[in-house]
Amino acid sequence: MPEALILGGAGFIGLHLARDLLEDGWRVTLVDDLSRARVDPELEDVVTAGAQLVQGDLTRCDTFGRLPVTADRVYHLAAVVGVRNVERDPYRVVRVNTLTTLNVLEWLPPKSRLFFASTSEVYAGGVTVGGVSIPTPERVPLTIPDIAEPRFAYAASKLLGEAAVVHGARARGLEAVIGRFHNVYGPRMGASHVVPELSLRALDREDPFTVYGSDQTRAFCYVSDAVYAMRLLMESATASGEVVHIGNDADETRIADLVDLILGLADHRPTIETAQAPSGSVERRCPDVRRLRELTGFEARVPLAKGVEQTFNWYRDRWRPERYGI
Ligand SMILES: NC(=O)c1ccc[n+]([C@@H]2O[C@H](COP(=O)([O-])OP(=O)(O)OC[C@H]3O[C@@H](n4cnc5c(N)ncnc54)[C@H](O)[C@@H]3O)[C@@H](O)[C@H]2O)c1
Repeated sequence: MPEALILGGAGFIGLHLARDLLEDGWRVTLVDDLSRARVDPELEDVVTAGAQLVQGDLTRCDTFGRLPVTADRVYHLAAVVGVRNVERDPYRVVRVNTLTTLNVLEWLPPKSRLFFASTSEVYAGGVTVGGVSIPTPERVPLTIPDIAEPRFAYAASKLLGEAAVVHGARARGLEAVIGRFHNVYGPRMGASHVVPELSLRALDREDPFTVYGSDQTRAFCYVSDAVYAMRLLMESATASGEVVHIGNDADETRIADLVDLILGLADHRPTIETAQAPSGSVERRCPDVRRLRELTGFEARVPLAKGVEQTFNWYRDRWRPERYGI
């Protein structure tokens, strides 16, 4: 039975990945310090379905002594994410995201296959200051406009993570691929991302309904497509050493249109009030996913309307802040 180790496996993307691997007959170990994720009913279901959960802090070397070194595939998704964390404690973001990654690189035996989760934020600064084309390919300058600004701590930590993985994998003989996620969304992702946040406000019948940055556009990627892309990359013979954008370029949408879609699902027709987007959020974000296609033949399978409906329905039927709140 093939074996997968998912670091940060109790989190949003990690748990969807775990479910997918279990369905395909993999043995799955999840490692998480549960600093963000919770032991909620969905995590309990995945454990009942056969996943092993190791609670441990991956910034600590002794945690690695409790993990299987025999794993055929290692997915490193553990990180401190989210605007609130970055603003509240930027040093924690840099510390955890850096130490966990260096520890993984030092611990893995040569020839291990590693996936490292990076982010479109590594080049977002370049979009703001100029010189980055959209849709954005992988080989663009990665820019931190102001290293002293707390909100860039997450991007800086992932930028360093990419460098560590590229050079660490070469030095240590690992087969590593870096996937830069672009606006992944879906059930059980907390309440602060735009899709659940709008869904919950629509379900609360907010009126007037405030829309921030309504003319901004995003290319949203449903979580099962992100999982599909990760798994294809891990099985690709040619992806090792590559940095690859993961996202859905087919469904770039204005925030105003996303709001329409969600209000339609909620059958709610409030007065719309527009407001400025939070400072630092880019006007447009869309990945160029040609490299992902070339390496794996990937095509997104879940169109925006379907993914948003599935997410909306999950939040309508299952969301309870005390059970799932993160
Ligand atoms: N969701 C997105 O759209 C998106 C976009 C870009 C990049 N990413 C990256 O993908 C990965 C997964 O993202 P997610 O949305 O599932 O986030 P998430 O917060 O739901 O999952 C991360 C998990 O890591 C765990 N963790 C944090 N510190 C840890 C530590 N010291 N030891 C062990 N576990 C620890 C958290 O408890 C959490 O369960 C992250 O690396 C993130 O930076 C996600």
